[in-house]
Parts: sequence; C-alpha cells; structure tokens
Amino acid sequence: MKETGAVFFIFGATGDLARRKLFPAIYSLFCEGKLSERFAVIGLARRPRTNEQFREDVYQSIDQFARHKASKEDEEWQNFASHFEYMPLDITNVDAFLELKKTAERVEGQFGIAGNRLFYLALAPELFGSVAHHLRDGGLLETRGWHRLVIEKPFGYDLPSAENLNTEIRKVFNEEDIYRIDHYLGKEMVQNIEVVRFANAFFEPLWNNKYIANIQITLSETVGVEERGGYYDNAGALRDMAQNHMLQMVTMMAMEPPSRLHPEDIRDEKVKVLRSLRLYESPEDVRAHVIRGQYAEGEVKGELKPAYRAEDSVNPESKTETYVAAKVLVDNFRWAGVPFYVRTGKRMPVKSTEVVVEFKSMPDNVYLAKKGKLQPNLLVFRVNPMEGIYIKINAKEPGSEGTILPVAMDFCQSNQVGLNTPEAYERLLFDAARGDSTYFTRWDEVASAWQFVDRIAAAWSQNDSDLQLYPAGSWGPEAADKLLEEDGFHWWPVN
Ligand code: BG6
Repeated sequence: MKETGAVFFIFGATGDLARRKLFPAIYSLFCEGKLSERFAVIGLARRPRTNEQFREDVYQSIDQFARHKASKEDEEWQNFASHFEYMPLDITNVDAFLELKKTAERVEGQFGIAGNRLFYLALAPELFGSVAHHLRDGGLLETRGWHRLVIEKPFGYDLPSAENLNTEIRKVFNEEDIYRIDHYLGKEMVQNIEVVRFANAFFEPLWNNKYIANIQITLSETVGVEERGGYYDNAGALRDMAQNHMLQMVTMMAMEPPSRLHPEDIRDEKVKVLRSLRLYESPEDVRAHVIRGQYAEGEVKGELKPAYRAEDSVNPESKTETYVAAKVLVDNFRWAGVPFYVRTGKRMPVKSTEVVVEFKSMPDNVYLAKKGKLQPNLLVFRVNPMEGIYIKINAKEPGSEGTILPVAMDFCQSNQVGLNTPEAYERLLFDAARGDSTYFTRWDEVASAWQFVDRIAAAWSQNDSDLQLYPAGSWGPEAADKLLEEDGFHWWPVN
C-alpha cells in the first residue's frame, strides 16, 4: 500500500466504531510509517460537519483511544490531519455518490493517489447492499486501482438473511474484494495460536484426540449492553459473539495445517472445521448441550449493576440471552470425541479471553498413585487482557519426598514486548489495505457458522423455559458447570 497509496472512505464516520477504533488505528499506522504520504480519509455520515470540526473529532478520538499520542501543535499531527476530509452524505441518494466521486477525484489528485479505494462500512448491515449499488452507480468503482469493501458484523441475522445480504453485495463486488471483519481474528494471540501450533514440535504431535481431553474457550466480559440495547436485544450473545468470534476461535484451534501460508489455503482449512461441527439434531439436543442465561441485578467488581431487563432500550420482559455455553463437537478424524466447551457472557466477574487445552491424564502408575491424584497438563492461550501462553506441568515439590505439584511455565507476551502491541483494528485495516484477507471471514465460513447457530436459535425460539437468570458478577448459570461435570471435567478458572 505504501507504494501506491489509497483513499479510505469511512461510512459512519461520526459513529462509535470510527471514534474508538478506526481513527486511532489509522493514526497508529501513520505513526509507524505504514501509510505513505499518499493516503486520504474521507469521512462520511448524514450529519453536517466542516472539515475543521471533523479533524477536531478525529483529534479527540486519537487523544482518548490511540496508543500513539498526538499533539495539535506538532507538525506531524497537522500533516496527518490535512489528509482528512468530511462530506455529509445521504446514503439513500445515488446523486450524492456522484458528488462523492468528484470529491474522491479531487483528493486523489491532491495527494497523488493512483485510484485505490477502500470502502469501510461502519453501518447497519441493512444498508450494505444499497451502499454497494450506489458506489457502483455513482461511478466510484471506475478507477484503475483496486476497490475493496470492508464490512462489520453482524453479517445477517440467520443464514437466509446473510445469503440475501451476500447476494446484494456480490452483485457489485467480487468475493476477493470483500473483507468481512471479525476483530477477534486481528488479536495478537489469536493469530499466535496458529504459530504456536504449527511451529513447535512440542505441540503438533499431541494435537489430537489421543492426547487432548477437551478444549475450553472463554470469552467473558464485565460490561453489560451499554448503549447498544436496541441492537443487542434482537441479537443476543449467540449472534453477537458465538456465531462469529467464538466459532472463529474454534476454527483456529481445530484446523489442519494449511499446505501454504496463503489466505485461501488457511481459510479452506478453517471452513472444513466449520463444516465438521456436529449440528444439534433436535430441540432436546440443543437443550442438553447449549445453556443460555441472562444477567439479573448483581455486583461486578464491588459495584451494583442493574438487571439486563432494566437496561436502556431493552424489553423489560426480554428473553434474550446475554450468556451462552455449549458443548461443541468437531466430527473429523483428529477431533472425534474431544469436546470443545465454549462460553461467553456479559457481566461476568472478569474480562477475559482465554483458551485452555486440557491434556489427557497420565496413567496413575504405582509410583504416582502413592503421591495423590495427578493434575492434567494444561496449555493456556491468554488473549485478553494479558497476552501470553502458559503451560501447567507436574513436578516434584522441592525438598519433599516426591510430592507432586502442578507448576506453571509462563510466557507473558505483554510483559515481554510491552503492552503497546498493535490493536486488532490496526492490523486488520492494514491487511485490508495491502490486500491480505487471511484474517477476514470468507463467505463460506459465514454461511457454515450460521448453519450451526440457526439450529440453536430455532430450538430456542420454540420454547424459552431453559433461559436462566444469573446474578451480574457471577460465572453464569450452574447448568454450564453441569455440562462439563457430566463428562468428568470442570471449567478451569480463567486468569
Ligand atoms: C463485539 C460485540 O463484536 O465484541 C460486543 O458486538 C462485545 O458485544 C465485543 O462487547 C467484545 O470485544 P473485545 O475485543 O472487547 O473482547
């Protein structure tokens, strides 16, 4: 991208995502020398704003959220800000796109950009189709460079709606030019799963049902629904977290080694995992293996938090789940019989994203039997808030007569390389701009994920008697513990 430059069109430029993630990410890329002088950002939204006001918004966002700090007096900041323009745009009106075309051409002339255009839709998905059409009809795809569409989740509400959305977008953009963001795939440690698995002789030979007892994936949050009650009450944790982030984490853990480190080869392996997921057969099957909960009033970190039903824009009788746990089976040769236990919830006691691989226990031989029960070996990927890996092994307690203790070998990446690693959006925006789609979800992945999730949603829509309330600040319904207990396991505490 450095060579040719690009214009970033940010639709939804006055929204939360742009403010919290996109502007800070662009600024970090600029500070790290990953953008050339030949870049421009055109902010687009309905409300009127001057360029000066827009640049001030961008400054405020960077001041609050960026990992690189800016100072308005600095020449570097002024240079950066001069690449930003704002244009109020009614996205329902194709004539406005003709205007946008003129603005784009002017900006490209000003910065010597050769016609590469990245359209980032930080918008409600219902608008994706019509924006794509208007981009084409407004002549914005007629330059000689590349044209890429970056879109945010949720990608549909179920498989049929996702298919409709995809059909609309594909009338205008080729699959290889569509970048569907799943920001979990941009996280440092999620990307590291692949490297740890495939670059270490320690792990790959053990990475199968002969040696692994189960895999546990936890995506817990302390926040509630914040200002997003309107959206969330329709989506719930199943659609908001499980269909995308959670299943993507499963694919990273379960995929076969790709034959080449090429985006399509990697995504081919991931989609095979999604296709191997055992679909729940009946509503009873769903009830037995998928637990849903909703937070009631309770204390999180010593502060009393309201019940989900009392949150803004949430139906006071809502049956929407804010917690899901499930036992997921990957029916292929490598994973037959190994349960993947996944859970995600809001208003949990800690914010944590963690994957625990529990290895099968060693046989209790005569020597070890005397020393009490052995703990299984664990390999833990810590994605958030700390980044790192640790391994739990059994060792002799120093000075004892052979008492065996589990000890941890810890590689804390955040401590080693500092907390200032690039953020997910920074990495993904950079990848989209240089045409690397490895960490974006391909259509067949999205479709397979919906197929799996739709079975759960269909069973839930028939009967909501299994929705359980859990106090805010707890680890969710007890039924989620039973899910593992039935198989002789338990959730390992997260860090
Ligand atoms: C988003 C969900 O995709 O991920 C939010 O819509 C959730 O509900 C967020 O809070 C969690 O992301 P992270 O990176 O903070 O774990």
